[in-house]
Amino acid sequence: MSVSAIGGTREDMVGTAITSVGNTRGGPVRIPADRYWSAEFAEREHAHVWPRVWQVACSLDHVSQPGDIFEYRVGRYSVIIVRGRDGELRAFQNTCMHRGNVLCTGSGQEIKNLRCPYHGWMYDLRGQLTGVPSHKGFGENLNQEALALPPVQVDTWGPMVFVNLDPSAISLAEYLESVPQESSWLDLDSFQCYATIKTEAPANWKLVADGFSETYHLQALHREMLGSVDDIDASQQIWGHTGVSHQLYGVASPRLIKSDDQTIWDSFIITQGERMGITESCPAPEPAEGKTMMSVIADRIKRHHKESKGIDLDRWKSREIMELHQYNIFPNLTVLMTADLLQVLCARPGTTPDEAELVGMSFERERAGQERTRPLDVELPMDQASFGFVLDQDIDVLTDAQRGVHQPGFTHLNLSCEEARVINTHRNLERYLGIEPSEITGGPTPEGSN
Ligand code: FES
Ligand SMILES: [Fe+2]
Repeated sequence: MSVSAIGGTREDMVGTAITSVGNTRGGPVRIPADRYWSAEFAEREHAHVWPRVWQVACSLDHVSQPGDIFEYRVGRYSVIIVRGRDGELRAFQNTCMHRGNVLCTGSGQEIKNLRCPYHGWMYDLRGQLTGVPSHKGFGENLNQEALALPPVQVDTWGPMVFVNLDPSAISLAEYLESVPQESSWLDLDSFQCYATIKTEAPANWKLVADGFSETYHLQALHREMLGSVDDIDASQQIWGHTGVSHQLYGVASPRLIKSDDQTIWDSFIITQGERMGITESCPAPEPAEGKTMMSVIADRIKRHHKESKGIDLDRWKSREIMELHQYNIFPNLTVLMTADLLQVLCARPGTTPDEAELVGMSFERERAGQERTRPLDVELPMDQASFGFVLDQDIDVLTDAQRGVHQPGFTHLNLSCEEARVINTHRNLERYLGIEPSEITGGPTPEGSN
């Protein structure tokens, strides 16, 4: 599939391998701007997207023990994820079959039953109705079996727990396409979640997710990164619901006219020095004969993990530590992975189309013999939440980005083939909402328009 196909339909894009730089024959891909603020469009997403897609709800560490429960909310939908006494993971719609009150809020441990706080109907951890107070009032033919909690599909990929409200949806394995197989060498099962941060973002959920779906913005928004990443040769691949970008760190961007080892070292410290345990600028170590700055940084990351955390990364080669794989799973999931890190970002709709909820989940390789334990979950206002130097820049731009898309002269986004994963989000949205591609691109771009 050639680069020029990127401007076409979703079917055209499936299986497409592209590099960051290239031309889209026929001009940019135009996407209507009102998808980012229209209440009517948001309502269509609530009706036709969120109840039908696989989405990350929590980590395995949130529900590792029998009796663990976790409430997942997306927009108006709420799902209870339960680890049963038999060790099975199950999920249910969070609604009591009496008069629809939600059964539980938040999360819990060592739970034996789910008891509705309104009138006291009781369910076991398999979702079966087991107790109805003043039973006689419902007549002799109350069929408790028929009043089990509505089940929700639940499955895992590595340490991530996914749910899908649609009982007839394709399996998670099918939905994730080639991604689990392509990333299997990373042994995701050995990552454990130690913390999550949730914050309100002042932008549409797609605007948040889009920022994690392209590297085109590195040269402007993340200039500090250019000393330590090759953003130009980062290859991308699009499947159907999924896409990926592979970015090599520990080398300078070809965009920089002048760079040396100190440039690479300084840039890496500023943008992700905590991976090496170094956050203050210092002279770059001299690479040994035949070694590069990339392998120096990889060795420092290994040493830091071994000395300060007892995590052994010796089985990984330098490139496996220094190449970041950024997977985007429709509609709202970004998974960042290298041999030493796993970070999950979920953008969910907020109360209005101008608001979103951003959840970041941080994982570490398990230490020998360490059981899964409940992560630290924090919820913070945006000005107090920190996701790291680079992601904070992504978040800081959201207020202005959302304000801009409202301007009456801005009718369409104009997307490059470098933004293929953003385009793919829209191609999938159109499929779920039943929008024909011809309706959106709307024929030739008017002269001088957006
Ligand atoms: S709504 Fe749950 S018991 Fe009445
Ligand atoms: Fe970014």
